Amino acid sequence: MAIPLDQVINRQGTQSTKWEKYADRDILPFWIADMDFASPDFVFQALQQRLEHPILGYTKTPDTLTEAFQGWLAYHFNWHVPEEWIVWLPGVVPGLNMAAHTLNCDQSIMIPTPVYYPFLEIGENSGLEQILTPLQLINGRWEMDIERMGDQLTKGTKMVFIANPQNPTGRAYTLDELTALAQFIEANDLLLVSDDIHCNLIIDPDAKHLPVALAVPEIADRTISLFAATKTYNIPGLSCAAAVIPNAQLRARFQGMEKGLVPGVGPLNHVASQACFNDRSDWVPNLLTQLRANHERLKSVAGGRMSTLDATYLAWIDVRDLRLNDLEAHFESHGLGISDGKQFGLEGHIRFNFACPKATLDEGLARLQESLND
Ligand SMILES: Cc1ncc(COP(=O)(O)O)c(C=O)c1O
Repeated sequence: MAIPLDQVINRQGTQSTKWEKYADRDILPFWIADMDFASPDFVFQALQQRLEHPILGYTKTPDTLTEAFQGWLAYHFNWHVPEEWIVWLPGVVPGLNMAAHTLNCDQSIMIPTPVYYPFLEIGENSGLEQILTPLQLINGRWEMDIERMGDQLTKGTKMVFIANPQNPTGRAYTLDELTALAQFIEANDLLLVSDDIHCNLIIDPDAKHLPVALAVPEIADRTISLFAATKTYNIPGLSCAAAVIPNAQLRARFQGMEKGLVPGVGPLNHVASQACFNDRSDWVPNLLTQLRANHERLKSVAGGRMSTLDATYLAWIDVRDLRLNDLEAHFESHGLGISDGKQFGLEGHIRFNFACPKATLDEGLARLQESLND
């Protein structure tokens, strides 16, 4: 039976990364990007069906998974992607790092910040110089600063990494923004890696997710786009992701980086993601209704501190005026586990995950109010 989204689920005993961090303390976790909602029934039905077979061996990617993913891209974005453009991966983060490994050691990468913290490790992981370029806040909205990116470019810069929708600022880039970025990419002979894992989680009904290779086809050959169903359906523990790479040479180089380092995708992960990509039910619309209501509740407490959020369940909150030395410690002392913005490359901010049942959020918001007043 489907578990309603407003039901509080005790995650004790599941080794949940999110909850174990504060296991023995009265601290509610609003940090890591993992939702406190049950995944939909059809995911469990698909898993149970697979578990009727007693062997969970090495598994090649089922054609049915690729077909489901192609159908999902067509259904949500009207993007018709040939099978050969798709490379399956055991996660989006391995895909980010594999992309960097396609470069030569004298080349550099550029990353707008603040950004999901594994992006900040890509340079070191791949032995490449990493140029961090700040997003700019314009009328409460975080935007790429293309002019500044141009100024920071060096002769060796070859690849730009973005998250769209952006984590932690929650921006879903518009066509104008993607077009400006595409012109920059083309004019400087660059490649673009776009992490689109949050693409279904559109909070502002007027916002839209635009896969960059579709929205600006002129640069499709320069792109690697990364997708997964794991964030939307809350199955990050069953990691499975797909890279869409239209250019055959780039795709071959990317695949070459996998060998001996990146494991294949497990059979249960395949099955769960396939069930999600085939979903046309009202599960995601209902989830979005809940997330939108939560976002409004959070806004009523954090208000002007929050930047405009188009997408994701991660709010980016400015707490610079509190002049805190240790943000995590301050919020923990009020019973709140948040993510310190420093982790994402920008101090004085916190990231707050609002994907939880109303009762949990209400308790969290009472604590947030206190911690902002203190
Ligand atoms: C922008 C972004 N990319 C990637 C991931 C993780 O992807 P995976 O677990 O498939 O490596 C996350 C998780 O929070 C994320 O927010």
